[in-house]
Amino acid sequence: MGKVYVFDHPLIQHKLTYIRDKNTGTKEFRELIDEVASLMAFEITRDLPLQDVQVETPVATANSKVIAGKKLGLVPILRAGLGMVDGILKLIPAAKVGHVGLYRDPETLKPVEYYIKLPSDVEVREFIVIDPMLATGGSAVEAINSVKKRGAKNIKLMCLVAAPEGVEEVQKYHPEVDIYLAAMDEKLNSKGYIVPGLGDAGDRLYGTK
Ligand code: PRP
Ligand code: URA
Repeated sequence: MGKVYVFDHPLIQHKLTYIRDKNTGTKEFRELIDEVASLMAFEITRDLPLQDVQVETPVATANSKVIAGKKLGLVPILRAGLGMVDGILKLIPAAKVGHVGLYRDPETLKPVEYYIKLPSDVEVREFIVIDPMLATGGSAVEAINSVKKRGAKNIKLMCLVAAPEGVEEVQKYHPEVDIYLAAMDEKLNSKGYIVPGLGDAGDRLYGTK
C-alpha cells in the first residue's frame, strides 16, 4: 500500500492556517499556496538519487554531488492544481509540466475530463500529480488513471488538504501511489467539501466566487 505523508513542518503549518482563513484575500491566498508548494516540493524530493561529481572551487577540487538526472513531470489538475506549479518549479526548474483538465459535476460530484497533455517521454518520468484538494478522491483517481493510461509507471500525488474519504479512494484504485499532504482533515460535508478545509480552492485562487 502507498504511504501517506503529512508534512508537519512549522512553516507549512503556519502558512496553511492563513490559507484556510476565510478572510485571506485572493492575492495573499495565491502567494501562500505558491510558498507552501515550494516547501512541500523540498520535502517531497528528499529521496531523489544523487551522483558524485567533482567541482573546482577557487581553492581546490571538491568531491560533491548533483541530482542523478532523474526526469520529473508535474501534472496539475486544472484548474486549482495550477496554483501550486510555479512554487514547485522554483525548486525543480527542469521538470516538464503536463496538464489534466477535470471538473467535478456539481450534481454527481463525479470528475469530467476535458483536457490532457503530457510530456512525450511519459514512460521514463516520475510524475507528481498536483491538486490542493483531495475531497471524494474522484478527480485524483481519474487524473492518475489518465496519466497511467498514457504509460506513466511512477506516480506520486501531492495535495494540500485531504479528507480521509479521498485518501481511501486513491488507495483503493491506486494502491502503489504515495500521497503527500500538508493536512489530513476530518471529513466531507454533504456537498463534497472538505471540513474544515479551505473552501473552493479554484475560486479562491482565481477570484471567481
Ligand atoms: C476541485 C479541486 C479538485 C477537486 C477535488 O476542483 O481542485 O480537483 O475539486 O474534489 P474530489 O476529490 O471530490 O474530486 P473543481 O472540480 O472544483 O474544479 P476547479 O479546480 O476547476 O475549480
Ligand atoms: N474542491 C474544493 O475546492 N474544495 C473542497 O473542499 C472540495 C473540493
